[in-house]
Amino acid sequence: MKKKTALVTGASSGIGAVFARELAQEGYVVTCVARSQDKLEGLVKELGSGHRMLVADLADHGQLQRVEADVESMGYSLLVNNAGYGIYGRFEEIPLDQQEHLMTVNMNALIRLSHAFLKKADSGDGLINVSSALSLLTYPGGAVYAATKAFVTNFTESLWYENKDRGVYVMALLPGLTDTNFNAVATAGRTVPAETMRSYPPEVVVKKALAALKARKAPSVISGPLYRFLTFLSTRLMSRKTMVTIMGKGSPVLRK
Ligand SMILES: NC(=O)c1ccc[n+]([C@@H]2O[C@H](COP(=O)([O-])OP(=O)(O)OC[C@H]3O[C@@H](n4cnc5c(N)ncnc54)[C@H](OP(=O)(O)O)[C@@H]3O)[C@@H](O)[C@H]2O)c1
Repeated sequence: MKKKTALVTGASSGIGAVFARELAQEGYVVTCVARSQDKLEGLVKELGSGHRMLVADLADHGQLQRVEADVESMGYSLLVNNAGYGIYGRFEEIPLDQQEHLMTVNMNALIRLSHAFLKKADSGDGLINVSSALSLLTYPGGAVYAATKAFVTNFTESLWYENKDRGVYVMALLPGLTDTNFNAVATAGRTVPAETMRSYPPEVVVKKALAALKARKAPSVISGPLYRFLTFLSTRLMSRKTMVTIMGKGSPVLRK
């Protein structure tokens, strides 16, 4: 049987760090990718012998190519494209180069690593692309972020279909609000009213993802019972206009 090996991007904190820990617990040999060398060193030490790290900025083409080459040559049994971030604010007030940087990390890096992985994937392998519950909605105050995640879910569900008959399971993971550094990064340097919605620990998100990885059925999985319920309400029972208006009124960065 093929050895269980996984590469996790964005493993230096939040959901990615929990993925790395849980996968190591499940017997995977884990390669952890992110920019923060010190955090990755601490994590790999904690995971124990055999695990490794690759320090890389996935927005940098040369560094991304290094990770792609690693994915192609190592033949991982699981790739978790988790690295990503948001920028919250009114679209026209956020410099465009910052929004392009966000699109590069959230979409371009994810596409390139998915390609490197799927070219070499064997039956039984898995690919998890971390999207967001926002990908099924819209998010005034985080317009480009939510659009990058809509892209990730749509792209990943197509790959689920393309790969299922060769035994390679591809899934989009759609977390709702999760207790990580995400919000601090997305609102960097600005005072924003506190988020009022319930936030789940990253362990809840990863547990749901790993259960889905074992079941190998759904093209996308929403984590957090509240977000499964709210997404159902917003996508099946509301008009788009009502949904966008509710999302806009609830958006902390747009609240006066
Ligand atoms: N938290 C939420 O409420 C929530 C909800 C839905 C979806 N998500 C998604 O979950 C994923 C993980 O986010 P998180 O919540 O765990 O936030 P987080 O704690 O801020 O973690 C983000 C991770 O992405 C890495 N990263 C960011 N930019 C990178 C780059 N240019 N190159 C390499 N790595 C980079 C960061 O590492 P370095 O800074 O060390 O590079 C970090 O490890 C993201 O895709 C996010 O969109 C989060």
